[in-house]
Amino acid sequence: MRLLPVLSPENHLVLKELNMQDKAKTKEQLLTELYELRRRVDELEQERMENKQAEEALRASEARVKHLNNVLRAMRDVSGLLNREKDPLKLLTDVCNSLAQTRGYVMAWIGQPEAFSKRVLPVTHSGVGSEFLEHSLITWDDSPTGQGPAGTAIRERRAVVFEDIANDPRFVPWKESVVAYGGASIASVPLIHREHVFGVLTVKADRPDAFDAEEVDLLSGLAADIARVLQGLEDERVRKQTEDALRQSEEDLRFLSSKLLSAQEDERKNIAGELHDSFGSSLAAIMLGLENARAQLNQSGSRPELLDSTIAWTKLLINEVRRLTTELRPPFLDNMGVVAALQWFFRQYRTTYPGIHVEVEVGIEEQDIPDPLRIVIFRIAQEAFHNIAKYSNAEYVDFSLIKQDSAIHLTIEDNGEGFDLEAALPKISERQGLGITGMKERAELSRGSFMIQSVQGTGTVLRVMWPLSTPRSSGVNSI
Ligand SMILES: Nc1ncnc2c1ncn2[C@@H]1O[C@H](COP(=O)(O)OP(=O)(O)OP(=O)(O)O)[C@@H](O)[C@H]1O
Ligand SMILES: [Mg+2]
Repeated sequence: MRLLPVLSPENHLVLKELNMQDKAKTKEQLLTELYELRRRVDELEQERMENKQAEEALRASEARVKHLNNVLRAMRDVSGLLNREKDPLKLLTDVCNSLAQTRGYVMAWIGQPEAFSKRVLPVTHSGVGSEFLEHSLITWDDSPTGQGPAGTAIRERRAVVFEDIANDPRFVPWKESVVAYGGASIASVPLIHREHVFGVLTVKADRPDAFDAEEVDLLSGLAADIARVLQGLEDERVRKQTEDALRQSEEDLRFLSSKLLSAQEDERKNIAGELHDSFGSSLAAIMLGLENARAQLNQSGSRPELLDSTIAWTKLLINEVRRLTTELRPPFLDNMGVVAALQWFFRQYRTTYPGIHVEVEVGIEEQDIPDPLRIVIFRIAQEAFHNIAKYSNAEYVDFSLIKQDSAIHLTIEDNGEGFDLEAALPKISERQGLGITGMKERAELSRGSFMIQSVQGTGTVLRVMWPLSTPRSSGVNSI
């Protein structure tokens, strides 16, 4: 038997009316029609419900797309900032502003883990309710204040999401912020680069369950970019600091070198003066006394052989003191200038080393050589010629000191054996201030450029160039 639908009082009325309209239809036919109508109504109701749900889902996904668009826009802004901004604090502040202002999030903040106190110190923040950070205790240890999203993200080095802070027991230490600013969800991502945790970025959305895995991935990528840029800025800062320190220590070294060289010159001058005034004149007096004594003994008919040899020794000693005095500080240098001092030096050199032919070209007037350069030129020439005599086995040396193109050029070239500059360098640099190092130091301290070239079997050439500037700035440092 077929079951008929149970009729409501309204349906009874409809049935009655239908009966009146269509007397031809049997009762059973009418009931079937009614049943059919009822089923149709239920179907329509079902469709209406489904449409409503679909509409709601559509609205929710539209809101989600809008939110993700905002987040993406914020991230695009942040990427631009990362390439532009060079000041780390300003960069982080702009990042927070950008995340909070594009309405992707209601609030964003960046904290820094403090190693000793284990606190997470807010570096910068932006958006609604971020002020609460100023008087909140947030840590990254195991205590209750370390169980929040930021502390956990730092401690466990991973992204942490609190879906609903109003009902999350881990958020209890900061419940006043929930009371004041309402419930929401929070995501924290650590800023890590090369194992180093720079800080933590925290963003807050204005409703629970706002973060899905895709968004957390986006935030983690952003955090990695920020950390990379921070590391770059830190590397740059350290590099600059090291460069500054190096520049400073080079300056200090230069200053000390110049002091040392000028102290050495003063000392030489003093010793030369002492030798000349004290030793020289005493020896001259002794010599005179001895010669007088010998004259008297000669008159009395004695044969003072002992005195003869003593006088000979004394003469030798006088010559030696004279040589030492001039070597220490050539008297010409102070009285007649460097050109005269060099001529004197070459005379001495030719006598001492007759096997070395010295060719000299001087194409500059004494008055064109700045005063502080005189001693520099003399000492460089002195050392170069001593080296040639000691090591080169040269037969010819060309010396040239000329003025050309507003510069003084000093060139000393020998045709000796030459040497391996690379091999000699460690030996040279180990003994700062002597030999080649000393020549270079003197040249550069006096704003000159120094160059030495040596080819084994061919010889060695040394060049120094000092630019001559206007009289107002002589361009030459006193050493
Ligand atoms: N004109 C040259 N010809 C060949 N070798 C040279 C010449 N000048 C320098 N050298 C080589 O370069 C080395 C370094 O010279 P440098 O003047 O710096 O030191 P040094 O003469 O050994 O010691 P110091 O000058 O302190 O007495 C010398 O030991 C020598 O081997
Ligand atoms: Mg030397």
